[in-house]
Amino acid sequence: MSRYAEFYRQSIDAPEAFWAEQAKLIDWKTPPQQILDASNAPFVRWFAGGTTNLCHNAVDRHLATRGDQPALIAVSTETGTEKSYSFKELHAEVQRFAASLMELGVGKGDRVLIYMPMIPEAAFAMLACARLGAIHCVVFGGFASGSLASRIEDATPKVVVSADAGSRGGKVLAYKPLLDEAIRQSSHKPESVLLVDRGLAPMALTEGRDHLAAALVEKHRDAQVPCTWLDATDISYTIYTSGTTGRPKGVQRDTGGYAVALAASMKHIFDGRPGETYFSTSDIGWVVGHSYIVYGPLIAGMATLMYEGLPTQGLDRQPDGGIWWRLVEKYKVTVMFSAPTAVRVLKKQDPALLKKYDLSSLRALFLAGEPLDEPTARWISEGLGVPIIDNYWQTESGWPILTVANGVEQTRSKFGSPGVPMYGYKVKILHEATGEELSGANEKGVVVIEGPTPPGFMQTVWKDDERFVNTYWKSVPGKLVYSTFDWGIRDEDGYFYILGRTDDVINVAGHRLGTREIEEAISGHAKVAEVAVVGVADALKGQVAMAFVVPKDGAALGDDQAALFLEGEIMKQVADQLGALARPARVRFVSALPKTRSGKLLRRAIQAVCEQRDPGDLTTIEDPGALQQIRRSLSP
Ligand code: PRX
Repeated sequence: MSRYAEFYRQSIDAPEAFWAEQAKLIDWKTPPQQILDASNAPFVRWFAGGTTNLCHNAVDRHLATRGDQPALIAVSTETGTEKSYSFKELHAEVQRFAASLMELGVGKGDRVLIYMPMIPEAAFAMLACARLGAIHCVVFGGFASGSLASRIEDATPKVVVSADAGSRGGKVLAYKPLLDEAIRQSSHKPESVLLVDRGLAPMALTEGRDHLAAALVEKHRDAQVPCTWLDATDISYTIYTSGTTGRPKGVQRDTGGYAVALAASMKHIFDGRPGETYFSTSDIGWVVGHSYIVYGPLIAGMATLMYEGLPTQGLDRQPDGGIWWRLVEKYKVTVMFSAPTAVRVLKKQDPALLKKYDLSSLRALFLAGEPLDEPTARWISEGLGVPIIDNYWQTESGWPILTVANGVEQTRSKFGSPGVPMYGYKVKILHEATGEELSGANEKGVVVIEGPTPPGFMQTVWKDDERFVNTYWKSVPGKLVYSTFDWGIRDEDGYFYILGRTDDVINVAGHRLGTREIEEAISGHAKVAEVAVVGVADALKGQVAMAFVVPKDGAALGDDQAALFLEGEIMKQVADQLGALARPARVRFVSALPKTRSGKLLRRAIQAVCEQRDPGDLTTIEDPGALQQIRRSLSP
């Protein structure tokens, strides 16, 4: 048996012994009393009775050994700034932030919603929450008021931490008006708002509620705020993600299990070593940012490089398709993490840029979030000359489900496959309708995980255990298994291939969006009677959203001018409510949508037509003419 196969087997056959060993990778105030409690399946409690703290493990633990080494390197090609904080400096900054939050009444279990651009203060805020035992809830800075409002409503934060603005490609996006509007829309009102002023956009402050971070932080310059010791099973954070319904789910994570899972993954999967630099190009608004910008690298004693800006603009704010490689050279990055879409953007740049810098420090480039197509993988692999490692996971899992664990044993990667199940994950492929296990090679089914789920995996849906069980664990008939809602196959060597979602989630440039959420935003428009949104294959972004709308009056159907105008209005409505990411690439007008006789929208058939594929079995369709209309509406 190969070394990895043996490692994996131990994790499955003797999970308690396996994870008790991994638990030694972090600091505990008091050791765990019970490694695994799976008595209330599908809920799992890891390391119960052990007390620890994420911030202690990410920051304080390293002070004695590497206090003066870099911990956080913040680079913004939007503002042309570059700043490095040592572990000692980070420790001081986090305590100042923690003291400021305490002054605003934040303590253990309180929620703090963080709506921030990629600036160091965002990481200080997250770590400060962890230090205090407060639950952070980071909302992606590109989200608009509607999305933000529904998250404020659900998380009921005591405090919101935000900034005047974000910036993308030189375009300033003022956050404060979006936040004010979101708070206005929400029935829950935060007591206080802590604002970082970057000097990018004017801010109107609400007396008694809004506070400038600079003033509070200065007041607490010398603050010493001890870590609050938490039970391993206490909540560290929630992060919202899209699913089948329009209502986003708060994925809830624990403290001890998460810390152990990240520490183990840094060792076995990412092979990142203390004192080195880790560079993830993600955003703190996504799970990758939580696990592999903030917590994972710092827990491993690495410096983490936090990047604000496009991959194609330099620090002088001039076009520079080599900026990331320049940073790899400058900071001697050993582990890099990005998304296939970013690589496809870089593919349009001069390939000589990949050879211009000394990239000898780089050990591997990890890509995740969406399918990695072979041409993209080959291009970047040849250009960089380092292993390209695809890894498949979800907001729910917190760390890779499928990849290769080169830290355990050098393992061959196969193009097109993220790899094999990681230790702790019992990954199976089941028949969608019968629930029967498909163990043959290349049989397509739903990718599921059998419990008990490993440390780091979501505990539940925030405030909604029932939704957790019903959504994730009851979708396959007759079996209590966790559904990933992805289609997959496994080849004869045990490598998995992911073949897209089984539900209405689409993946635009590595970002997960629910088509139902977009449909809800569109159907709110006064001129819209009905709408269907589907994801359609796109060469650059993987998928884009396409909306088919039945207008209330026929004007948009016969008149190009009217159609163009309404398309513009609908796009704006989605961007205003959900954010630019969710804006459909096109809106087309039809007089009816293809449905089954029982009234179910045939989204898969619409998608097939958009992608010029065979729409499959249409015996249940109510009105075949509706699909014809979709086809015709696509021609220019
Ligand atoms: O459909 C899968 C796709 O992205 C989904 C999870 O997205 P999110 O919750 O945003 O988490 C991203 C964490 C990296 C999955 O259900 N997906 C993610 N990684 C891959 C992928 N599809 C194919 N290959 C991957 N490597």
